[in-house]
Amino acid sequence: MSAGSVLGIETSCDETAAAVVIEGTKLASSVVSSQVDLHARFGGVVPEIASRAHVDLLNPVVAEALVEAGCTGPDISAVAATIGPGLIGALLVGVSAAKAFALAWGVPFVGVNHLEAHLYAAFLEEPDLTPPLVLLLVSGGHTLLVNMEDHLRYRLLGATIDDAAGEAFDKVARLLGLPYPGGPAIDRLAMEGDRQAVAFPRAMLDDGYDFSFSGLKTSVLTYLRKHPEADAADVAASFQEAVVDVLVTKARRAARDTGATGIVLAGGVAANSALRERVLDVCIEDGFRPFVPSRTMCTDNAAMVAATAWFRLQHDGPTPLSAGADAALRFPGI
Ligand code: KG4
Ligand code: ZN
Repeated sequence: MSAGSVLGIETSCDETAAAVVIEGTKLASSVVSSQVDLHARFGGVVPEIASRAHVDLLNPVVAEALVEAGCTGPDISAVAATIGPGLIGALLVGVSAAKAFALAWGVPFVGVNHLEAHLYAAFLEEPDLTPPLVLLLVSGGHTLLVNMEDHLRYRLLGATIDDAAGEAFDKVARLLGLPYPGGPAIDRLAMEGDRQAVAFPRAMLDDGYDFSFSGLKTSVLTYLRKHPEADAADVAASFQEAVVDVLVTKARRAARDTGATGIVLAGGVAANSALRERVLDVCIEDGFRPFVPSRTMCTDNAAMVAATAWFRLQHDGPTPLSAGADAALRFPGI
């Protein structure tokens, strides 16, 4: 086992995950245990249920990640965990466990920002990712457009002023009577629909880099009330098209304006088929390099945490064991 093996732990929301990554770029193992079934009947993540499930699942998931990587505790040279943003009780399970492993094995603990970790998921699969880049980070809790000027140096270009893109997918899925989690359900249904069937609004399309999705959700609700006979697949496809249109138009403009060489797509919504396709098209048209991680690397996992930890450890050194979790942590440096 290499000296640069980092054990990463992710428990910020409803996935209990552990992974071993060597020197930030070589994936040795990645185990994700989803709690989706536990939360599905409530239509969303229940924080207390998530924390309790993490307590039950974490040790077996870590053990599996170590076995899959062919190593034991003493082979690990640092232990990392997501310290935020996320559900505080859920975060504390992973952070406490990571600190305990680090203490027991006498290796550094590294606290990782979950948002930065989503970006490093792209690095893990494409190690030659070279800044300046534009990052479109779209998840259940965040929608950010970031200029990555250099490694670990970022400038915020825009963010959502209300709902996150993933939140919009989840809420509209509920309006359509689709199961939780809504994003993948809309993605599947939209494949059978006409994306031009309904002209839903594109809020703030030509207005800066910020986003707004709550009006779109209200438009879908109003449309469904007026047209109870509407074809759900058409509504799903038209809604998805409106979201993708705004996200990609702004990312493309940001890449042009900042002189970026490529566009990085990250976060759970980056698993969306239409969004992935459109980013690839735009990059071909404009000559940007696309960095679109595999679907499993887009949604929450611990490989991205272990990869980020390696780069942060070189740059910032270990995180003190006195550091806590921070439910509202912002993107680093912005
Ligand atoms: O990054 P993530 O796994 O967790 C957070 O950090 O929030 O993102 C979860 C979000 C959820 O809102 C989920 O509905 C959405 O990502 N999502 C999708 C797709 N897969 C997951 N949204 C649209 N299309 C998908 N295929
Ligand atoms: Zn996430």
